[in-house]
Amino acid sequence: MNKQMNIAIDGPAGAGKSTVAKLVAERLSFLYIDTGAMYRALTYAALEEGVDLKDGQSLHKLLSKITISLNHEESRITVLVNQKDVTEEIRSKEVTSNVSLVSSHEQVRVEMVERQRELAKSGNSVLDGRDIGTFVLPNAQLKVFLTASVEERARRRFEEHEAKGIASDFEQLKKEIAKRDELDSTRDFAPLKKAIDAVEIESTKMSIHEVAEKIIKLAKERTV
Ligand code: CDP
Ligand code: CDP
Repeated sequence: MNKQMNIAIDGPAGAGKSTVAKLVAERLSFLYIDTGAMYRALTYAALEEGVDLKDGQSLHKLLSKITISLNHEESRITVLVNQKDVTEEIRSKEVTSNVSLVSSHEQVRVEMVERQRELAKSGNSVLDGRDIGTFVLPNAQLKVFLTASVEERARRRFEEHEAKGIASDFEQLKKEIAKRDELDSTRDFAPLKKAIDAVEIESTKMSIHEVAEKIIKLAKERTV
């Protein structure tokens, strides 16, 4: 593909955004930018520093003092806060249950969005998140809104936990996912929402590869 393009993949928790975005980026030799990892990294730093998560100003102050890097090492992506590897830590239960509160603050989002636009400015990137198509990159050449039933998304997360040997309860996971979706969709500033020009892919019955193939096909169509 010769033409520069950015691909935005938004959707609720556990829909398969990061797995699929990574595959699509690999196949097209694009840069993958996991914006959720950036909000998770800030949440981790705030918990470490004991910052009040309800206080947007203090969170913004903390964010302005830290570097968040998404490092690509062969096929592994690591997340660093001030050069410290926090790839595992940002997936903890504590971070997951607090990240929606941290990312609800306008001051936090404005700064994060600036960083995300800077990362994507040369084009040929795949970004996944909640507000990429609606707010971060409103001119992205391809926007995908990826969904799946809450039951299926909880099942996927449950299986992921089982594979990693993390004990979890299916009903509890379902509740947590539904709660995060609710918080992310109802916040005032840049909520989770399908962009009007996004292609919706309902993936409840689709495999990772089927979703990735569909997105790659759409991307190729948009470059001719
Ligand atoms: O992978 P998972 O769906 O669990 O979440 P994530 O993509 O890592 O995002 C974690 C949280 O960050 C979301 O629940 C949102 O609260 C927030 N987020 C956001 O507000 N905007 C984005 N562009 C990406 C994530
Ligand atoms: O990033 P997001 O929270 O949207 O989801 P993810 O972390 O990419 O995917 C959650 C889990 O679902 C992963 O373990 C994927 O391997 C799995 N998955 C799946 O089984 N089938 C799909 N069509 C998409 C994802």
